[in-house]
Amino acid sequence: MGRELMFILLVLLTGGVQALASDPPHDSLACTDCHLAHGAPGVGLTAEASNVNLCLSCHNPAGTASAVPFSNSMQAEPEQALGTSHSWNGTMPSSSSPSNPYGLRATADLADSEMRARLENFNNKVVCSVCHNQHSQERTPWDPASPGTPGLANRHFMRSDNELNQLCQDCHYYRAMGYAQAKDSSLANGTTVFSHPVGDILNSQGYDLPAPLDANGVAQTDPSGTGRYAGDADGIPENNLVLDATAQPGGVRCLSCHRVHYTDSNSLSRKDDLK
Ligand code: HEC
Ligand code: HEC
Ligand code: HEC
Ligand code: HEC
Ligand code: HEC
Repeated sequence: MGRELMFILLVLLTGGVQALASDPPHDSLACTDCHLAHGAPGVGLTAEASNVNLCLSCHNPAGTASAVPFSNSMQAEPEQALGTSHSWNGTMPSSSSPSNPYGLRATADLADSEMRARLENFNNKVVCSVCHNQHSQERTPWDPASPGTPGLANRHFMRSDNELNQLCQDCHYYRAMGYAQAKDSSLANGTTVFSHPVGDILNSQGYDLPAPLDANGVAQTDPSGTGRYAGDADGIPENNLVLDATAQPGGVRCLSCHRVHYTDSNSLSRKDDLK
């Protein structure tokens, strides 16, 4: 953190200015629940040396954020069918290469300068505050159940806009290819490892149903009329295959198939069972 930012932080924390406030639900917290003005062990004058431990100090089954609990054992281990959450201790590669097993590119090449700055602060590790901005609900999440108005609760404190999975694609750059690239290697921009296309409209090649069926085979509906097909006909929102809002129907994105937290790759599992 720069000297100037450190000064602003000190002024704010010692009650000099009330300009910065956290958005809900973190608005119920005091700045000093997470920050110490003096002798702070963590990045950003935070109260814990580790960013993850700071989040876990409340986000655990006995903490004030027990509704959304985490523990380190929930993290996915690449190459093993273990874990129910995107990891929060993975390290970004030091150089960008299409042959990275997860399609990751180096921090220095990321498009989002805020996410780049966080990775630099946290020794290149993808900790909670790389993907989340714990102060602000301004950025747009993917979750079709979240409110559309910036600043409201349940927008998941995103670090970057993610309605088109920009956040995922920024790091997992080489996984982000359209149908033409995945089909024709001469268009693949150096990529030698091919992935399921993203960003293409459902059924644009005539391979798909005109609208998705959920994992129980029940046709999803599009109550919002935006092409997302997030309508939940069987009362199990976890098994929906949701699209983006680019068209009618919308496009397939990473989070049409993946979830970030509370998921075990079993379409019978309910989110609350995995908390
Ligand atoms: C839920 C915990 C939490 C609360 C509550 C919180 N912060 Fe932070 N804040 C953090 C973390 C973690 C960082 C460092 C990580 C980062 O850079 O995002 C940080 C960083 C900052 C920074 C550095 C710039 C930035 O945005 O990263 C400022 C300034 C700041 N906080 C001010 C405040 C003020 C003022 C309040 C009270 C209105 C507050 N914070 C409440 C966790 C919190
Ligand atoms: C790789 C990026 C990434 C990391 C690392 C990450 N998250 Fe998330 N998290 C997300 C995204 C993206 C969403 C919203 C998903 C959506 O819109 O459907 C989310 C959602 C959440 C939610 C809301 C969950 C719900 O079901 O209501 C909480 C709480 C949360 N994250 C906390 C954390 C904490 C605490 C950590 C660290 C222990 C963490 N996250 C690490 C990307 C991440
Ligand atoms: C001092 C306690 C405390 C700390 C520390 C804390 N949180 Fe929270 N957080 C809460 C509470 C309380 C909620 C609301 C939980 C609920 O829904 O009942 C919450 C909710 C959230 C949500 C869900 C809100 C939404 O809009 O979906 C996210 C995401 C989140 N926290 C991320 C973080 C991250 C990242 C950190 C670490 C930088 C962190 N929190 C640290 C108390 C805390
Ligand atoms: C800041 C960079 C970053 C962002 C943003 C990010 N990832 Fe990752 N992702 C990683 C890293 C690094 C790993 C490797 C984890 C490890 O080595 O433990 C990883 C691993 C994964 C894995 C393999 C399982 C696991 O967790 O290890 C999946 C699947 C994945 N990411 C999907 C996503 C999706 C979907 C999104 C968007 C919601 C996303 N990632 C956002 C950096 C990122
Ligand atoms: C059509 C569904 C679908 C889409 C879209 C999709 N994935 Fe996946 N992804 C999967 C499945 C299924 C697996 C598990 C494959 C396996 O076990 O071999 C997987 C595995 C992964 C892995 C684990 C490493 C590996 O290759 O086994 C990563 C990382 C990953 N996906 C990232 C992404 C990112 C980032 C996006 C968006 C750019 C994305 N995926 C889009 C279905 C999808």
